[in-house]
Amino acid sequence: MRIPIIAGNWKMNTNVDEAIRLVESMLDGLEAVPGVERVLCPPFVSLTYVSDLLVETSIRLGAQNMYPADKGAYTGEISPGMLKGLCQYVILGHSERRQYFGETDEFVNRKVHTALTHDLVPIICIGETLAENEAGQTAAVVTRQARGVLAGLNGDQVSRVVMAYEPIWAIGTGRPATGEGANQVIGLIREVAAGLAGPGPAQALRIQYGGSVTGDNAAEFMGQPEIDGALVGGASLKADQFVRIVQTTAQAKGV
Ligand code: 13P
Repeated sequence: MRIPIIAGNWKMNTNVDEAIRLVESMLDGLEAVPGVERVLCPPFVSLTYVSDLLVETSIRLGAQNMYPADKGAYTGEISPGMLKGLCQYVILGHSERRQYFGETDEFVNRKVHTALTHDLVPIICIGETLAENEAGQTAAVVTRQARGVLAGLNGDQVSRVVMAYEPIWAIGTGRPATGEGANQVIGLIREVAAGLAGPGPAQALRIQYGGSVTGDNAAEFMGQPEIDGALVGGASLKADQFVRIVQTTAQAKGV
C-alpha cells in the first residue's frame, strides 16, 4: 500500500519568526497522525529553524526549489548539497516556477535526476492551464509533462519520487478540481509511469492532488483510490486547516 503524503507548500510566505510560530501551532496536531507522511516546505531562510523544531518528531521537511548543480557560480541559487541533511524532500517544477521563471520539463527533469543523486525525494509538479483544460487537452498535456519530467529514471527511482497533479486553474482560485476528475488524470499519470518504468514502480509511485485543497474538501480527494495525498498551498498556512487535511486523509485512507 502507498503511504499517503500531505505536503504544505508555504510558497513565498512567512518570515523566520512567523515560520517558527506556524510550526509550533501545528506540531502537536500533526504529530498525532503518524499514519500519514507529513511534510512542511517553508521558504529557504526558515529551513534551518524549522529543521530544529522538527528534530525528534516524525514530520519531514522539504524545500520549494533547487538548482541542478553541485556548486559554482550560480548567484542566488541553492544546491542539493546545501539541502541534504536539512531536508528530505524538494518540490520541483511547480507551475509558478514554470510560469514566472521559465522552467521547462527538460530543466525540471535535470533537477529530478540531481535531487535523486543526493538522496532528496522530489515532489514533481505537473498540470494543465485553464485554456488547455477548456480545449480538451488535459490528457495530452499531462502525458507530455509526465514523460518529460520522468525521462531517464529507472524503476527504483520512479517508485521513490512523488508527483503532484496541480491543474493551474485550481491553484489559489478556490475552484478545485472534482475528486473524480483529479482521480482520472492521476490514473493517467500512473499509466504513463507504467509505460516508462513498468507496472510495479508505477503502482508504488505516490501521486498527490494540489489546487485549492482545504479541510472542507479534502475528503472528496482522499476518498479516491488513485490519489495518494495532497500538495497544499494556502490552507497549509493555517494550522487548523492543515491539521484537518491530515486527519481527513488518515480517516479516508484508513491509516
Ligand atoms: P493552493 O492550495 O493555495 O491552491 O495552492 C496549491 C499549490 O500550488 C501547492 O503547491
